[in-house]
Amino acid sequence: MQITPSVLNANLADLAHEVARVPSADMIHVDVMDNHFVPNLTLGPAVVEGLLKATSTPLDIHLMIEDADRWAPGYADLGAASVTFHVEATRAPIRLARELRHLGARAGLALRPATPIEPYADLLSEVDMVLVMTVEPGFGGQKFLDVMLPKIRRTRAAIAASGAQVALQVDGGVSLETIERCAQAGADVFVAGSAVYSAQDPDAMVRQLRAAAQRSITG
Ligand code: DX5
Ligand code: ZN
Repeated sequence: MQITPSVLNANLADLAHEVARVPSADMIHVDVMDNHFVPNLTLGPAVVEGLLKATSTPLDIHLMIEDADRWAPGYADLGAASVTFHVEATRAPIRLARELRHLGARAGLALRPATPIEPYADLLSEVDMVLVMTVEPGFGGQKFLDVMLPKIRRTRAAIAASGAQVALQVDGGVSLETIERCAQAGADVFVAGSAVYSAQDPDAMVRQLRAAAQRSITG
């Protein structure tokens, strides 16, 4: 069970400090948006490069950008531990996943809420993680979409059937109130933005979220 806090709703002018506030994080989730794939604009390679120098916590890059084939490898080149691209924004997902892995990063495949996993089941052996969006991508602080729970279950089943070692990440509206449902449905990596950064003690919230996820599957 891994918790990957999203810095989207943290203070973007003081990222190094915001990341230092969550030493218990397994990775730091960085949301890259281009104002085309989603109606919001955040940051790009220059900021990621700076952040990589400022922390030893691995970075989990979530690309919400068009033409991921062209831009994603640059993030692996910089040294990001994990690079996730959207299937809806990629022409050659297998080629891209192989390129990311060749550059030393973990490759992640993300699905918008309305995108099913089934057409991509044969690609699972090519990736290290699947990201099931549990809100429409673009903004932090949105309400968790319960209607995504069946897709989380089907994705977990597809991963099991593939025999590959693939992590299953959920992103959007994850909190102490929703994380147990996600874990029970088969998620094992959890992005949490507002839940972590609006908490009094963000690092304690990271540990509480991890404990809640763990507890919900061990009983
Ligand atoms: C939304 C981003 C998320 C966002 C999550 O498009 O991909 O990573 O920061 O924020 P919360 O946890 O507040 O929904
Ligand atoms: Zn994200």
